[in-house]
Amino acid sequence: MKENFDFLMPSVNFFGKGVIKKIGARAKMLKMSKPLIVTDKFLRKMPNGPVEQTLASLKSAGVDYAIYDGVEPNPKVRNIQEAKKIYLDNSCDSIITVGGGSSHDAGKGTGIILTNGDDITKLAGIETLDNPLPPLMAVNTTAGTASELTRHCVITNEQTKLKFVVVSWRNVPLVSFNDPMLMLDVPAGLTASTGMDTFVQAIEPYVSTNRNEITDGQCIQAIKLVEESLREVVANGHNIEARTKMVEAEMLGGMAFNNADLGYVHAMAHQLGGQYDAPHGVCCAILLPIVEQYNLIACPERFAQLAEVMGEDTTGLSTRDAAELSIKAMRQMCDDVNIPRSIKAIGAKPEDFELMAENALKDGNAPSNPRKGTKKELVQLFQAAYDAE
Ligand SMILES: [Fe+2]
Repeated sequence: MKENFDFLMPSVNFFGKGVIKKIGARAKMLKMSKPLIVTDKFLRKMPNGPVEQTLASLKSAGVDYAIYDGVEPNPKVRNIQEAKKIYLDNSCDSIITVGGGSSHDAGKGTGIILTNGDDITKLAGIETLDNPLPPLMAVNTTAGTASELTRHCVITNEQTKLKFVVVSWRNVPLVSFNDPMLMLDVPAGLTASTGMDTFVQAIEPYVSTNRNEITDGQCIQAIKLVEESLREVVANGHNIEARTKMVEAEMLGGMAFNNADLGYVHAMAHQLGGQYDAPHGVCCAILLPIVEQYNLIACPERFAQLAEVMGEDTTGLSTRDAAELSIKAMRQMCDDVNIPRSIKAIGAKPEDFELMAENALKDGNAPSNPRKGTKKELVQLFQAAYDAE
């Protein structure tokens, strides 16, 4: 083989009850001799939880490991610097993330600064990475950001409170594990917020300027699955059928936005998440009906189709009226799973809106939004999300 041959390996997505047991064998197959486990303290302490099950499988395959368990929600630059130190101190050669989006993004960020330079803030943007990351696998525990299979790495600069995205095919984990049995004890509030992220990640690619027929199919199926299961799984986390459908929806949405990209809901939610350290799914959910109402004139027929997929009766309605029903259905979903209507609930302050609007337009998710906004319009959208009742 050519020396320094630089290639992207195809990724494999394992899904289903018990797939976590395969991780040790996969680590061996990938010749991982000492992966760094990147996770948080809560998951590490959980008896027979995802970390314990991951370590058991690695041990049975004879694979050594080191652990970094300091991942915070909205993972910070300091988290990936700490993880990098443990990686180097322990002579690790690969990374396994265990958790939801925060763990996966922290693991990707660690991999990025190991091979692409120490200052990740300089790598914000699309396809900015010159070098491959160390081999990376992801064990997913929420449905979810889908970061376990996407090319997105979202990190917060705790100094500037700016949450930024590094979008690159180099970030895609080599193997993802989605085992619904690992998710049964996720609390209702976290199930709702992460589930709303999945909902948004199926809607934004459907109206994105980069969509295609393949991503459309993925989005439609993902939205149907969320409609069939999110309310049920918030009501009863041990409903295995509903948990499984949410995982399917999450994976489909992730595959869709890997190719079709997202839009202003995510671009603006990243500003709220960075500024107020608020849960990503809640930020996305509050913004969803407001931003899509604004987007509606860009592609009313797409929103009319969404209304039908969401179970609304559009018989005899004009395209415009049918499209409005999709916004109503989005708001209903938020209400049903107890998402607050206003960004006041996460501590938002109107004096921050100018800067957040400016930064949202620079976010890696902004270019594919169906309606091209001005800074003034985005300030108005933040204000509408503040005034909403
Ligand atoms: Fe998201």
